[in-house]
Amino acid sequence: MVTLTINGKKVKAKENTPLLEITRKMSIPIPTLCYHPDLSPHGSCRLCTVEISRNGKTRMVTACNYPAQDGIKVETHSKRVLHTRRVLVELLLARCPNAPFLRNLAKEVGVKTSPFSAKTPENDCILCGLCVRTCNELVGANAIGFSMRGTRKKISTPFEIVSERCVACGACEYICPTEAIKMEMDRVRKMRTSETGTLRTCRYMRMGLVDFMICSNGFECWRCEVDQMMEDRFGTHPIFALKPAKQKESFLMNGFTFHPELYYSEGHTWCKPMGESIKVGLDEMASLLTLKAETLNLPPVGTPLKKNEVLAEISSSGKKAKIFSPLSGIVSAINHEVVENPALVWRDPYRRGWLILLKPDHPEEISKLLSGAKAKEWYSKQTLNLLNHLVKWASNPSPKGDHSENSSLREIPRGKWEKLERILLKH
Ligand code: FES
Repeated sequence: MVTLTINGKKVKAKENTPLLEITRKMSIPIPTLCYHPDLSPHGSCRLCTVEISRNGKTRMVTACNYPAQDGIKVETHSKRVLHTRRVLVELLLARCPNAPFLRNLAKEVGVKTSPFSAKTPENDCILCGLCVRTCNELVGANAIGFSMRGTRKKISTPFEIVSERCVACGACEYICPTEAIKMEMDRVRKMRTSETGTLRTCRYMRMGLVDFMICSNGFECWRCEVDQMMEDRFGTHPIFALKPAKQKESFLMNGFTFHPELYYSEGHTWCKPMGESIKVGLDEMASLLTLKAETLNLPPVGTPLKKNEVLAEISSSGKKAKIFSPLSGIVSAINHEVVENPALVWRDPYRRGWLILLKPDHPEEISKLLSGAKAKEWYSKQTLNLLNHLVKWASNPSPKGDHSENSSLREIPRGKWEKLERILLKH
């Protein structure tokens, strides 16, 4: 965690959190154009400009992609910031004088007319790139991008020819703040006569959100009940409603399940916040230790645990493995099922195989554990290393190819349990 000052108020935040995320939590209104919480920050419109100072030096940065750092002072509405935002809006207004969204924004920041003028007021595109990032990052189609340079820069399909990658999902049209992108229904309808002749597949299917669905509405989504239901329920385009949920789904890495929403420790435990408590378990790699374990001992409820104190002891054929607590706190519950049947941890490490509930002494310490991209990188390295050992130990590994799917590798041979314990727990 780092401490920074925003508009004179000291705040604590996770290091490198974009300033905009922090200011939004503090309900400080900062206008944005090219920012969307489900997309990577682009920093192109610069409307979210704020002033930061450190060691007496001041500079303007974009809040949507500037990382929180210890000791910086941030001013979100200083004179200089407000002036910069007004000039930016004036420039945008000169480029697209007819875009209603920009006109409203201009009113908000106190701009009546623009002193600038463009030689050829273009279409309504302000080059915020939201459509490009939506198509690339969420839909995964990569059908559009930036082309040309300087004043001729624009959004188009590669080589400005009809893109075969476009699935006509309408996400670019939906996200465009200035309504510069319009779906051309004639082209969309042509999808009915695709080469394969499978015809009329729904946009949910084309986006990979459902396995199979036929469009019975001639691609007129506004007549579609499913579409209406989705919009009523989530108030957004389906790709924005469903993709973030999909991104939280678990997936396999070198044959081991990774849960993106969990916090991981290098001691091979995972943590999941559950209200005031934190659920702690063993990750799938360490769960291998429990497959042939005779006992799994957990501390009694009420035990105060310090970080790195023994949280669980697993024994197998007279050998013992110690699992250390990733956080300090009081044990508020233990999973009796895994005490009676340790192999349950191996069978279902992230759900029924949890170990304890911990009431943490310092809840914020969970943010020091591995999460997000760092956790993914760590998990990937660890699983690859483990997989290499498992392949070496296997009596009959498949000669070539992807070993990660080979479930027989999970059978730890006699005599290797201790070695496995050393690899994972690094004693
Ligand atoms: Fe930050 Fe556009 S919203 S640069």
